Amino acid sequence: MTLTIVGHGYVGLVTAVVFADLGNTVYVIGRTADKIKRLARGDPIIYEPGLAEMLKRNLDAGRIHFTLHYNEAIPKSDIVFIAVGTPPKNNGEADLSSVLNVAEMIGKHIRKYIVVACKSTVPVGTNRKIKQIISDKAKVPSTKFSIASCPEFLREGTGISDTLEPDRVVIGTEEARARKLLVEFHKPIGGVRVLTGIESAEMIKYASNSLLATKISFANMIAQLCDKVGADIEEVLNGVGLDNRIGRRFLYPGAGYGGSCFPKDVKALIKIGENYGENMDLLTAVERINDRAIKHLTEKILARLPKSQTGEGQTVALLGLSFKPDTDDMREAPSLKIIERLKRARTKLTVQVYDPIVKQLPIKELKNMIYSENSYQAVTGADVAVIITEWNEFLHLDLVKVAKLMKKPVLVDGRNIYDPEKVKQLGFSYVGVGRI
Ligand SMILES: NC(=O)c1ccc[n+]([C@@H]2O[C@H](COP(=O)([O-])OP(=O)(O)OC[C@H]3O[C@@H](n4cnc5c(N)ncnc54)[C@H](O)[C@@H]3O)[C@@H](O)[C@H]2O)c1
Repeated sequence: MTLTIVGHGYVGLVTAVVFADLGNTVYVIGRTADKIKRLARGDPIIYEPGLAEMLKRNLDAGRIHFTLHYNEAIPKSDIVFIAVGTPPKNNGEADLSSVLNVAEMIGKHIRKYIVVACKSTVPVGTNRKIKQIISDKAKVPSTKFSIASCPEFLREGTGISDTLEPDRVVIGTEEARARKLLVEFHKPIGGVRVLTGIESAEMIKYASNSLLATKISFANMIAQLCDKVGADIEEVLNGVGLDNRIGRRFLYPGAGYGGSCFPKDVKALIKIGENYGENMDLLTAVERINDRAIKHLTEKILARLPKSQTGEGQTVALLGLSFKPDTDDMREAPSLKIIERLKRARTKLTVQVYDPIVKQLPIKELKNMIYSENSYQAVTGADVAVIITEWNEFLHLDLVKVAKLMKKPVLVDGRNIYDPEKVKQLGFSYVGVGRI
């Protein structure tokens, strides 16, 4: 088939490249000439494991094309996927301006029947707005197009395998012709097909992300209590997770959830609830607990530093900056909030950071921030070393070497990736989350 994907971020580009690899002809529409040029040269712009190689393969095969112009793509396509950003507005609502703009542009260029499927995460009612815009503003008769809500569930860091082998593919549409085409299109990929109405598909995405965020906050709430009562959260969650009704996955205590999806989607679902007069207080508690996870972790770091008003002469090493491993995405990354809190508490503190991929923070340059080339450089001379993101390489640190390089061996394990006893045996003072 021939498809167009509007947006070339973590969702758009991964989807484009994977479906090109499966033999489709794919047009990707962007809005910045420089980025389109880079993509056409084989530079994926974002970091996602395996993406650069797959992009190059499909460019060489002539299956993927990047353009700024809708007229080069839409008239030739069977399906158009909308995969542009839906960032949060100040009031927490999803900003739909890009999605609605794109709908107008698609409408203006429809020449034959197409299915317009929205992968962007959008509140209930948005897909019907897309339909309205295409019909009204672009003056396209309803026989020329169908709409569908096809929310995306890929995870950054495993985007390619998630696209090929998703748990499920949700196809929300009222029109049999669109359903048939989308089912046919998704045939080569795995996962259960969930065929629904439009509103249900829109809700499935928000409900899924909000429940995953709830699991993380639940784990953090219990971890906080474990710290007080002397229990070990990992032992507790292993015991809890063995109940088949519960399961262990996603019960992750630590620095809390971040990234481009959970924080904004929880906020947006609260807002959707409010707009319909529904009380969403479970989710407001989830957000509060998530904020507290950052606060508690920062307090643990500060408590291990020598007493000081300013932090002059003190150094904290932060290992991991991205919001999770195997991505360069820094949106809502816990590392940023921890740095901000540390700097507020001790203005002259030196922070030595290292991340395998992220080499620059998306914040104003802070005083006494040092970017290190590797973990060992980052911990050199540090009073406290902190694991913020559980990148694979941090699981296998030479802790004997780390201990020698630090001022004093103190490890704050913000993701509970180490066995406390083993670390203590090497002479470290170990602080985890929910397992003092
Ligand atoms: N990142 C994820 O892991 C993930 C997973 C599932 C769903 N989603 C959802 O998918 C959507 C996209 O997320 P993302 O992470 O890929 O975002 P992103 O910020 O990485 O990419 C967004 C893309 O949209 C483009 N864009 C924005 N406005 C445009 C316009 N008017 N015309 C053309 N292009 C435009 C941007 O240039 C960029 O390429 C969001 O709604 C998000 O919630 C994201």
